[in-house]
Amino acid sequence: MEQTTSMRTHMCGRINTNDIGSEVRVCGWVDRRREHGEHLVFIDLRDHTGVVQCVVDQNHDLRSEYVVQMIGLVRQRPEDTANPELATGEVEIEVRLVEVLATAEPPPFPLDERTEVDETIRLRHRYVDLRKARMQRNLRVRAQVNSAIRRGMETQGFVEVETPMLVASTPEGARDFVVPSRKEPGSFYALPQSPQLFKQLCMVGGVDRYYQVARCLRDEDLRADRQFEFMQLDAEASFVGQDDIFRFISFAIAEATEAVTGVRPTEFPRISWLDAMERYGSDKPDVRFGMELVELTDAFADTQARVFRAPCVKGICMPGGAATLSRKEIDSLVEACQRWGAKGLAWMKVAQRDGLAVLDAGVAKFLSAAESAAVISALGANVGDMVFLVADEHQLVRHVLGLLRLELGRPAVNEGGLHYLWVVDFPLFEGFGADGLPLAAHHPFTMPHPHDLELLGASGEALLGVRSQAYDLVLNGWELGSGSVRIHRQDIQNKVFACLGIPPDEAQRKFGFLLDALSYGAPPHAGFAFGIDRLVAILAGETNIREVIAFPKTQSGADPLTNAPSLIDKAHLRELGLRPQT
Ligand code: AMO
Ligand code: AMP
Repeated sequence: MEQTTSMRTHMCGRINTNDIGSEVRVCGWVDRRREHGEHLVFIDLRDHTGVVQCVVDQNHDLRSEYVVQMIGLVRQRPEDTANPELATGEVEIEVRLVEVLATAEPPPFPLDERTEVDETIRLRHRYVDLRKARMQRNLRVRAQVNSAIRRGMETQGFVEVETPMLVASTPEGARDFVVPSRKEPGSFYALPQSPQLFKQLCMVGGVDRYYQVARCLRDEDLRADRQFEFMQLDAEASFVGQDDIFRFISFAIAEATEAVTGVRPTEFPRISWLDAMERYGSDKPDVRFGMELVELTDAFADTQARVFRAPCVKGICMPGGAATLSRKEIDSLVEACQRWGAKGLAWMKVAQRDGLAVLDAGVAKFLSAAESAAVISALGANVGDMVFLVADEHQLVRHVLGLLRLELGRPAVNEGGLHYLWVVDFPLFEGFGADGLPLAAHHPFTMPHPHDLELLGASGEALLGVRSQAYDLVLNGWELGSGSVRIHRQDIQNKVFACLGIPPDEAQRKFGFLLDALSYGAPPHAGFAFGIDRLVAILAGETNIREVIAFPKTQSGADPLTNAPSLIDKAHLRELGLRPQT
């Protein structure tokens, strides 16, 4: 819709040859100023739709980023001055009236897309940074995504319910941000890591299909795909199973993707967690490229080579790697693998001898002819490739080769199309903590696989075999979201708490309200949440979620614009029952 107001008739970036001969009023910021002949200057006037060239009398004092209104006649540019790169490139406005609506300090950095500007400076003056075309586009992509997922959920009968921000601790596994209570000095609210428990309570409350575009807060180390505060599309539904949830979420994601890219994704393939771990060494496999992990343990069953005498040997093959990797690069890969926990990284080139592919260089001399042949055939290696092997404990081999695979082949997250993937059949526990207790792979409200309920009584390693009804959605190697079928029975919930070593009194203290709710008639229910910042970043072609958040924190968690976090005065601290830091 045309955004006309009492002050303007047209948006700058929309003026075109159809407007030639009309008088227009435009408002915006002075983007660029060029002298033109004796008495005239060219002003590029910018709003969020783009720029338009205005020809103005040189007597006006119009500097960068001044806010002005221009009234004038649209005319065709002389042919040799037309700019085909620009939407408005064939026209200009012959200005008869200029009004300066606001003057401006010189901008703290150039607003073109080419100049690299330090991020802290960008964020300190985010209000200027946001004027860039890239940021305007990202904000609008974000709004499109929000609107499409809301529409997508609502068409499927989901109802948006808001849940509180001042809550008791929620168990998503990160550190809580806390807020001191003035009324009860020494007591704290936690800010929600997610609406998890409330959405389950909504199910007990008969809401049937809940969703929320929900703000979540987690005090964790920040990265390209992590902020303290972030947004989830959070959903929960009653009387459903995993397939229903996949249908609901895929639909919302398809709506959002189509709204931004114009193309509706149709493929949401599935992979089991175990398969993902074995083939990609990761629970968020990047399936945009091959180089899968290949099992080689049997090939080395009777090996004479000391390095390969290990419980597990796996390898990957890098096509063409023999020629492209320098010795220095190989050495740094070996170091990286050692940093990731491996004892070493065995590498070999695939060369040609007597017309046959053979392993050469690196550790090739330690391999028997049969072992070499087995490695080449299992990896499907061709002359000119480079193969990498790691021998160690099974989980470590997967982990290290998974990381090496990404190091060798991973495109930037926004390249190579959009590859959505459901990862299913996660284990219930992901290992053991320092205290010897199992760690919940998702959260403690995840329903174990019905066939594995018996195993909950087991101890030690056997517990790691318990499958859960938890699933993730992955996009281009990023974890986009997670969910599960929930425990809706108090007895099973208590069993899982017991496995996790949460004693009944602690369970009662922390989650008593949930356990109570489960005893008042809870429908079977399941749900999901995906990170909106992550989805928007990838759809907008950005590799860092900060670029799609209007006012993000820096990598170190500060806000250079408002100076948060900041000290508060002593009186305020006292009122909250807190002692100032000495
Ligand atoms: P989970 O903890 O896996 O699940 O979070 C779901 C998704 O939220 C996004 N996300 C983040 N995005 C940016 N910055 C962060 N710090 C951050 N942390 C998480 C990710 C992630 O996949 N309540 C469960 C969901 C459920 O079971 O329904 C939950 O929050 O994209
Ligand atoms: P070493 O005998 O320890 O000097 O190792 C010989 C080569 O094998 C080096 O290239 C090491 O990086 C590599 N290597 C050592 N241990 C392992 C291992 N567990 N798995 C794969 N390669 C290894």
